[in-house]
Amino acid sequence: MPADEGSLAHRRHVPSRLVAVESLTDRLDLDKIFGRRAPLHVDLGCGDGLFLCALAQRVPDKNFLGIERLLNRVRTSARKAATLDNVRLLRMESSYAVRYLLPAESVERFYLLFPDPWPKRRHHRRRIVTPDFLSSIHSALQRSGSIYIATDDVDYFWKIKELAESNPGFAIGVADVDLPQSKFGRIFRERGAPIQWLELRKVSPVK
Ligand SMILES: C[S@@+](CC[C@H](N)C(=O)[O-])C[C@H]1O[C@@H](n2cnc3c(N)ncnc32)[C@H](O)[C@@H]1O
Repeated sequence: MPADEGSLAHRRHVPSRLVAVESLTDRLDLDKIFGRRAPLHVDLGCGDGLFLCALAQRVPDKNFLGIERLLNRVRTSARKAATLDNVRLLRMESSYAVRYLLPAESVERFYLLFPDPWPKRRHHRRRIVTPDFLSSIHSALQRSGSIYIATDDVDYFWKIKELAESNPGFAIGVADVDLPQSKFGRIFRERGAPIQWLELRKVSPVK
């Protein structure tokens, strides 16, 4: 836990929701982190935590982990989660956390809401959704678990769909979009931008 976050939590008698990562190579001990065993939902690039905390409040019997690389956004999320026992925040690069820190078959559902689209062709390689990323997501998902993806970028949407179609470990469905709004979801909706949703459900490859 960063010192200032810890002392802030201490001063206000609020438990910190930030995960203190003890090792960058050992898998997370989720039971210890949450203090209980429950299905895990993970919000990748959770931003200010609006979506994460609203959903965690709606579904108290599941554990929610928000992963975000920007410190100020993690802190904002942690403040929103102060009264929610079922939320934890991890300041980390999402691909790394999924690949190296989440235990195999530990996640019931991932959310990837409005990932940075990097619209310029020369920046496409910075996009988070790649074949390797999908393969790490697949390993971390429980049987029949899924990832919900939302984007306002049509080109990125088709690219993600194409990558998912070439991975036999996923069935493509339509996400149940009866979900709380995220900050960017709200912004795009107010602008009237078309929002595309995808659900990639883990399936066993046909033998
Ligand atoms: C466009 S915002 C969307 C935030 C939130 N999901 C929402 O819908 O309001 C993208 C967020 O993902 C974070 N992000 C981008 N790439 C990331 C990565 N590789 N690992 C962790 N966070 C990342 C950014 O810092 C930013 O907060």
